[in-house]
Amino acid sequence: MILVVGANGMLGQDLIALIGDRGHGVDIADIDIASLESVMKVIGGLKPEVVVNCAAYTDVDGCESNPETAMAVNGEGVAYLAMACRETGALLVQVSTDYIFDGGKGTPYVEDDAPSPLSVYGESKLAGEMNAAICPEHVIVRTQWLYGLHGNNFVETMLRLGAEKDQLNVVDDQIGSPTWTMDLARAIIALIDGGCRGTYHAANSGYCSWNGFAKAIFEETGLNVDVRPMTTTELNRPAKRPLYSTLECSKLTVDAGFHPQTWRDALRQYLKLRTSSHS
Ligand SMILES: NC(=O)c1ccc[n+]([C@@H]2O[C@H](COP(=O)([O-])OP(=O)(O)OC[C@H]3O[C@@H](n4cnc5c(N)ncnc54)[C@H](OP(=O)(O)O)[C@@H]3O)[C@@H](O)[C@H]2O)c1
Repeated sequence: MILVVGANGMLGQDLIALIGDRGHGVDIADIDIASLESVMKVIGGLKPEVVVNCAAYTDVDGCESNPETAMAVNGEGVAYLAMACRETGALLVQVSTDYIFDGGKGTPYVEDDAPSPLSVYGESKLAGEMNAAICPEHVIVRTQWLYGLHGNNFVETMLRLGAEKDQLNVVDDQIGSPTWTMDLARAIIALIDGGCRGTYHAANSGYCSWNGFAKAIFEETGLNVDVRPMTTTELNRPAKRPLYSTLECSKLTVDAGFHPQTWRDALRQYLKLRTSSHS
């Protein structure tokens, strides 16, 4: 059995839908990953073969004002899951982020590049990566710029704002790869089924700025919105973000045989699915 922790989240719900009968989901009502006792009780009771941890404190700006919670959930929580998996012999799959990098490299990041987080969220997720290694059988999957049917995300925000306004300012100096959670879920299953271990990058292929992503969303949906450029400095968010954090994913292709589709194709598929699920 594959246990999805954080099963009510955006990625967790797509994973559960993809896995079907092989899966079982738990979330905060069933397990608090920041509590060793809670983790031992649930993992010890269910004895899954694989634990995929999608649970996290994901409010990047909120982490800046709540560093203890960020570290307790994103850092120590992973240590508890790793201890429980080591004890029961399970494989731990830990989902991590491009925000462990500082964005200064200028070319796509490979798995071995040195981490250098700019934010509390990034620091706490890096601690989670290191703690995942407590379990000898582990996979770390770094991803970025997620959107999906089951959560607040950039696509939904743009569609809401685009219905209200005919002009928007969107940052054009952060570059990354928008990634559909269903494609990430498929990549995670390919890593599990392929017997992979260690660290992997998984994102849709190609890259753009948030501004370019917004323009694509409006082009695909036929909304007539004038998307103007603005800088990260002008947006002035509490947490610092990497400016260039594209992830090189060829290791995922070589080891797990998984070929991520382009971010634009994924967006098109997502919008089609979104329309049919809303009608
Ligand atoms: N979203 C992105 O753009 C992005 C980018 C890169 C990496 N990631 C990583 O991808 C993973 C999935 O992200 P997501 O966007 O799907 O997250 P999400 O929608 O915020 O889901 C996280 C889930 O974890 C639950 N949770 C929070 N604290 C918990 C705890 N102490 N014990 C158990 N469950 C807890 C949350 O419950 P509540 O909602 O009740 O708090 C929520 O259901 C995370 O590891 C995240 O760091 C995300």
